[in-house]
Amino acid sequence: MIFLIIVPCILCCVYAWRRRKKNLEGKLPPIYSGAWPFVGHIHLWFRGCKYLFWPRLLDMQRDCLDQGGVTYIYSGTNSAYTYYALADPSDCAKVANNCNKKFFPLEETIKAIFEDGLATAADPVWEKRRNLLEPMFDQISARLDVVNQHAKKLAGELAPKVQNGFFDPIKILQNTIMGILLRTIYGAIEDKEQDSYKIALQEISDVVYERHRSFLKHNKLVFRWSNLKRRQDELVRTLKALTNEVNMDSGMDPYLWFLFSEPITLLDRFLRLENKGVYSEQNVVDEVNGFLFGGYNTMVNSLQFILVMIGSYAAVQECIYTEIYNILSDSIREVNTEDLNNFIYLHAVIIEVLRLYPAVTKVSRKTQSSVDLKKYTIDPGTNCLLFIYAMNRHKSWGADRDEFKPERWLGGSTDFNIATFGLGRRSCIGMQLALNTMKIILIYLLREYKVIADHTKLVLKQELMLTPESGYYIALEKRQRS
Ligand code: HEM
Repeated sequence: MIFLIIVPCILCCVYAWRRRKKNLEGKLPPIYSGAWPFVGHIHLWFRGCKYLFWPRLLDMQRDCLDQGGVTYIYSGTNSAYTYYALADPSDCAKVANNCNKKFFPLEETIKAIFEDGLATAADPVWEKRRNLLEPMFDQISARLDVVNQHAKKLAGELAPKVQNGFFDPIKILQNTIMGILLRTIYGAIEDKEQDSYKIALQEISDVVYERHRSFLKHNKLVFRWSNLKRRQDELVRTLKALTNEVNMDSGMDPYLWFLFSEPITLLDRFLRLENKGVYSEQNVVDEVNGFLFGGYNTMVNSLQFILVMIGSYAAVQECIYTEIYNILSDSIREVNTEDLNNFIYLHAVIIEVLRLYPAVTKVSRKTQSSVDLKKYTIDPGTNCLLFIYAMNRHKSWGADRDEFKPERWLGGSTDFNIATFGLGRRSCIGMQLALNTMKIILIYLLREYKVIADHTKLVLKQELMLTPESGYYIALEKRQRS
């Protein structure tokens, strides 16, 4: 009897599955391999969210490229886990230029932390803020005094590491980057507050990552009753209180700003906007936290990759040193904007490392109107995942696409088409600030020391960002000035 019920049921399911597959054929891009009938790729989310692990993400990207640059990834009928994955640069650009909207599978966690900050806001709030913030970022990116001071301090702190074997540079890099970001935003800030920020940001990242990893906690009800949610609430309160406190301590009185002809920190500029009724006090707090979150781990991780690559290629390092010497000679003066424009080779090295190791490996978009890709048309309201890592290593870069070749950026081409800072209108607003900061840090570091590393030992892992898991230690030798 049981047999008579079960067998027809199974046959019906198989029939329905094959019919559905046939109906979708031609309309949808190829399905990412490993889909189970009906539930699709949901199994990837179980067992510690294997989906998130770097080997799995690499496989998704390879599969996407092998199948023509677009694949379909789905989990049953759950639209939050169903999307087009794209790795073809021109298709990705079409999607990114079509829409400013993102999709977040765990939206309420992201919103709890950043509310309607620039990185999470949707139109029309986003558009208005982006227009206001872009000129402010242009101005603060040109503020190099803070970066010079911190880069000089970093070079001093590295002195005890000389001839002392391989070491992990992460703590020194974290302190330097946090110091630069906080002082660019707030001006004067105490070391104690800097440490509290560092801890709060790190823990918030861990909580977001932990929720991504444990599929059960994606469920709002399960998450609401979990310790992780309590920890998230606690950290959000701490971070906001900290930002409020520092705002009060270091912010210029909003009613006195007009006494100063040119405000210098990001916060001063914000207060002008708040004063004009554009941002509320809470908006400022959320926005500032978004900038810290957006700039901190991205720059720390990128610098780790850059040091490993420079330390592995002695000839490249010598060329950078020659450039430093040609531009600054023996002078210990601060690096200015004009100097930075002359650092053509250093720029090429940084961009080449960022191409190979983008801290942000994928970005999301939700289409607002239909988009014609090379082979498919995407309907409005479709979730898309754009694979930055795969775009940066696409075959259009040439047969040597996986090789580290800074020269590919020399020779007059000013094309800037790596996807590391995102694509379209929602690309990174902090790009210039990040590039200036990383260049100045490297100039101070490389004029004092030779870096030694071995990129062949580099093992990657995917947390919220692409992170070196091992093989990222460096050693230093004192440079003898010739
Ligand atoms: C190496 C360093 C950096 C990398 C690789 C990087 C990467 C990115 C990427 C890929 C995006 C696009 C995200 C998306 O489309 O969903 C983005 C957006 C953003 N980044 Fe960065 N970023 C860096 C540094 C910074 C810095 C220093 C700041 C600020 C201080 C910053 C603030 C932001 C903000 C606010 C957005 C959202 C922009 C918007 O939605 O309009 N980033 N970043």
